[in-house]
Amino acid sequence: MLDLDPADAIVAALWREATTSRASVTQLLRGYFRQVELKPRQQKRIKQLLHRVLASRARIDAALEDAAPAGIVESLEGAVRVLTSRVLDGGLSPAEAKRTLTWIDWERVANFESRLARIDDPLRRVEILGSLPRPLARRIVERFGNEADALATALTGDAPRTIRVNTLQCSVEACMASLERDGIKVRRTEMAMASLEVLGPSQLFRTWAFRHGWFELQDEASQLVAELVAPPPGGIVVDACAGAGGKTLAIAAAMTGRGTLVALDVSASRLEELRRRAKRAGVRNLRVFRIRADAWTDEVEALLARADRVLIDAPCSGIGSLRRNPDMRDRLFADEREVERLQAIQIDLCTRVASRLAPKARMIYATCTVLPDENQRVVERVLATEPTLDVVRVAEIFGSERASKFTDASGTFLETFPHRHPCDGFFAGVFRKRQVDSAADVMATEGSIGGATESADGAEGVE
Ligand SMILES: C[S@@+](CC[C@H](N)C(=O)[O-])C[C@H]1O[C@@H](n2cnc3c(N)ncnc32)[C@H](O)[C@@H]1O
Repeated sequence: MLDLDPADAIVAALWREATTSRASVTQLLRGYFRQVELKPRQQKRIKQLLHRVLASRARIDAALEDAAPAGIVESLEGAVRVLTSRVLDGGLSPAEAKRTLTWIDWERVANFESRLARIDDPLRRVEILGSLPRPLARRIVERFGNEADALATALTGDAPRTIRVNTLQCSVEACMASLERDGIKVRRTEMAMASLEVLGPSQLFRTWAFRHGWFELQDEASQLVAELVAPPPGGIVVDACAGAGGKTLAIAAAMTGRGTLVALDVSASRLEELRRRAKRAGVRNLRVFRIRADAWTDEVEALLARADRVLIDAPCSGIGSLRRNPDMRDRLFADEREVERLQAIQIDLCTRVASRLAPKARMIYATCTVLPDENQRVVERVLATEPTLDVVRVAEIFGSERASKFTDASGTFLETFPHRHPCDGFFAGVFRKRQVDSAADVMATEGSIGGATESADGAEGVE
């Protein structure tokens, strides 16, 4: 056994569990912190280090291949990986690491980054920097070119801790004051309306504000997607892939208790979690339906046909939120055709919803991935098969100045990236069903596939 500092020893043990059990790293940490009483500062350190060791697997392996006796890297234990990760990140000096373990050349580990930067092959560099499987690294190099290194590096870093104030229950200021009374420092962020960044270690879920449903943990880009839904007063909103309800609850707050909010998902356990959260958040206009993936009941069909807004927060590869799920790397791209499989589901969901939308109703398509195959390519295919959809530019909904912080240059789609924005990588587009009165209109419509970004029914806000 190596003589590690106590927090490092805990991480080494958790690393072994994370790589052998089926539980996610979040479940493992939650279970451990429930059993062992630790200070917020210790919890934060353990979580960050475990995430880092899991997220930097390939980087650690490559550094050790260079610095450890040949042939032993495969058999190395969590303890060695923890030490290596800390030396790579500069948290532990080579001399300190040497006191624990002598047979690794820690100076070489500490200098690994400069050798890595000299690797000419961008694919190999991105594979190591982001500890990404080769098929994913290839897609990232193709899409991001010179920015691929920065994105890959960002995917192994710490994700910001952001909350959304539940404006159904309190104002942003009241929530800030309540958190402050519990010793938690927060600050306003710059993109979403009710978003706060949590500064420093804290046990958020023990606060008075959390117990009273005053906030939810939610990435800022995820909050922006929910804001894009922009429900009309008293309208019907369907969240077609609601999961545990991150966005459903944010939409509920925007609806201010009026209208009808409908949550659909194929997963019973996620919907159960959504019901629990909705109760705490004081949401009272919610109807929840567990659905089949390939067919909707008549009741759900009827709601979709009457809906003003339908959000499709589609199942996706989740690369934009990889920092929060570092162990997902091992499952990602286990099969090279995974992205094609997901794309088929995304297109199917969008075309089925689009064909049922009432005139002037909107569909909002969103993912938490940065791959064009799951974003722009899906949009192109859906617009080609559903010619009565118009794109509503994000800049039309949020105004050009605000939208410019998180859209492409034309202001059309929401796109965030972990290396450029203080949030996860998300994509979202908004589409409006056009009123088609006659066969001539359909023909005119077909001439404008994919190009129309202005609404046929006039200015925003008059619906
Ligand atoms: C990205 S997650 C949703 C996250 C959620 N909207 C949130 O903000 O917390 C995608 C969800 O789609 C669900 N799903 C997968 N296939 C589906 C289908 N055909 N119809 C509806 N939901 C589906 C999954 O169970 C999963 O909960």
